[in-house]
Amino acid sequence: MTAAPLLSVSDLTIDIPLGGRTLHAVRGVSFEVSRGETLCIVGESGSGKSLTSLALMNLLPGRLKRAAAAMSFDGIDLLSIPERRMSDLRGDRMAMIFQEPMTSLNPAYTIGNQLTEAFLRHRKTTRKEAFGRAVYLLEKVGITAADRRMKQYPHQLSGGLRQRVMIAMALMCEPDLLIADEPTTALDVTIQAQILLLLKDLQKELGIAIILITHDLGVVARIADRVAVMYAGELVESGPAAPLFQSPAHPYTRGLLECIPQPGKTRPGEPLGSIPGLVPSLTGRVSGCVFRNRCPRAEEACSGEVPVVAFGDARRVRCLFAEGVR
Ligand SMILES: Nc1ncnc2c1ncn2[C@@H]1O[C@H](COP(=O)(O)OP(=O)(O)O)[C@@H](O)[C@H]1O
Ligand SMILES: [Mg+2]
Repeated sequence: MTAAPLLSVSDLTIDIPLGGRTLHAVRGVSFEVSRGETLCIVGESGSGKSLTSLALMNLLPGRLKRAAAAMSFDGIDLLSIPERRMSDLRGDRMAMIFQEPMTSLNPAYTIGNQLTEAFLRHRKTTRKEAFGRAVYLLEKVGITAADRRMKQYPHQLSGGLRQRVMIAMALMCEPDLLIADEPTTALDVTIQAQILLLLKDLQKELGIAIILITHDLGVVARIADRVAVMYAGELVESGPAAPLFQSPAHPYTRGLLECIPQPGKTRPGEPLGSIPGLVPSLTGRVSGCVFRNRCPRAEEACSGEVPVVAFGDARRVRCLFAEGVR
C-alpha cells in the first residue's frame, strides 16, 4: 500500500464576482503531492496557477469564492479548518515563497528580525536559538557572512540575495510543504538556475514537498517529479514528469513541448512555446474543452462534455483524443 499523499485537492473551483457576472477562474482542479516530491505547475500567464496556490493556503482575496469536493493536508481538512488554525499552519507546516521578494520582505525591519519572527511565534524557543537557526539557514542557502547579513535591511541586499533570504525564511519552521510561485522570475537566468538547484538540494536533505509554479520548462524538466499543466483555469494534463515529457497526451501540452522533445535539452530560462489563438472568455457558462478554439485536433465533439481520463501510472488528461500513451 502506498502512503496517503501529503496534500490532496479534489475538484477545486474559484469564482470571481465581477459586477453582475462571474469569472470562473479555476474549474475542477484535482491533484496530489506526496512527501518529499516536487510538483511543477506550468501554464501560460492567467491560467490560474497563482489563484490555485493561494487557495491552498486560504489566502485568496476576500471576494473570491473557493469551493472544492475535498482538500486535505496531512489528514487535516483544509475546507473546514478554522482560520486561527489555518494561520498556525501557514508559515509553520505550509510555507510560501512569492514571486517578488520585495513585496514580502518588510523594508523597515532587519533580515534577522524577519527571519526569526515566525519561528519565535510558532515555537517555544529562545531568541538565541532562533538567531542560530536563521544564520544556519542563511548559510545553507549560500549567503556568506550570515551574521552580518542578519543586521541588514532588505534594500541593502541584491535581488538574488533577497530571494535566498525568502527561501531561508520559508524553511525556518521546517515546513512539510513549500509552495513557490514563480520564485525566480525577477532574477537573472544564472541566479534562477542556482536558486532552483538549491531548492532541490534542500528538499533532498529535508524531505519537504515542493509545489513549484513556473513557466520555465527547462526548470521543470530538471527538477519536477510530477507535472500539472494548467490552461484557462483547468488542469488539462498531469502525471509523472518523465513520461509526460516523453509522450504528452494533451494537444496543449504537446504545443508547449514542441520545441523541447527531450528533457534535459532545454536551457534554463527558455520560455514556453507559443500557440496561436486566444484563451476563451471564462465569464458566464464555460462548457466543452477550453482549448478547442486553438487546438489542431478539435472536432465537433469537443464542444460537449470532456471528462478527465486516467491512464498509465497516475496520469490524467482532459481530452477526447489523448494520444502518445499506452
Ligand atoms: N483579484 C482578482 N480579481 C479579478 N480577477 C483576478 C484576480 N486574481 C486573478 N484574477 C484573474 O484570474 C485569472 C487567473 O489568475 P492567476 O491565478 O493569477 O494566473 P497565473 O498565476 O496562472 O498567471 C486571470 O484571468 C486573472 O486575471
Ligand atoms: Mg501567477
